[in-house]
Amino acid sequence: MSILNHNKLNSRPIGFFDSGVGGLSVYARFKKALPEEDTLYFGDLANMPYGNKTREELIGFARKILDFYKLQDVKAVVIACNTSSAQAYEAIKDDYEFKIYPIIQSCAKVIAAANYKRIGVFATEATVKSRAYTYEIHKHNPDIEINEIPCPNWVPIVENNKYKEKSAIEDVKRKVEKMMLFSPDKIILGCTHYPYLLSLLKEFAPEDLFIDPAAIFVNYIKSDLEKSLLLNSEGGLEKFYVSANPESFKIHSKLFYNINELPVCVTR
Ligand code: DGL
Repeated sequence: MSILNHNKLNSRPIGFFDSGVGGLSVYARFKKALPEEDTLYFGDLANMPYGNKTREELIGFARKILDFYKLQDVKAVVIACNTSSAQAYEAIKDDYEFKIYPIIQSCAKVIAAANYKRIGVFATEATVKSRAYTYEIHKHNPDIEINEIPCPNWVPIVENNKYKEKSAIEDVKRKVEKMMLFSPDKIILGCTHYPYLLSLLKEFAPEDLFIDPAAIFVNYIKSDLEKSLLLNSEGGLEKFYVSANPESFKIHSKLFYNINELPVCVTR
């Protein structure tokens, strides 16, 4: 490959997606680690929440977003969504020429290697139903006991900014108490929306019990881009897209990332 082609390949953008603002918990870390990458972010607010959708629906949403990113000539797509990684990734992974990074599959090996005996997972109903965390971690270490608990109310709490409501606090407390009966060494926040709830979660269990897989995920992507000679050293532009409600996205994104412009609404 000539230097010219190589640089052209590297300077293509990387696309991220999630059902809403949750994936920004990954995106924000990525921008810190690799500020010179051009990045695109798609929040699929028209179809949010993903957690109560069927596998077929989730595959359809992922395909539409990846087709959209194909038109943007991306070099990679980051599935900054556990639910889509759990239910759609396997079905679509061979259908595109660019790299696709799914959060669960990319992090499982590192988590499995960390010497934990009992791991709890909080995730959406669709993620828990797939057992993707259990399956992917057991591929690397079958002796770890894993307890997955679905938290269907947590994404609406985050997207609608209901952290302070009594019903939200009680729901989080109930789930944490239930998980603590399992005596986990660590609890994975297996939905990219859940790190937004950390200030609430830590009221009911020690903060260092929780793992936000975003940090592991970003390290994985960075080293894979490095190995593949795909790093960009002269970009840094970013653009945000949503499939509905751009104002709501801009307001609720604030906790993790400051978006200056209103995202572009792409209706498909
Ligand atoms: N944030 C996503 C995840 O990691 C999707 C949550 C949802 O829309 O239900 O699973």
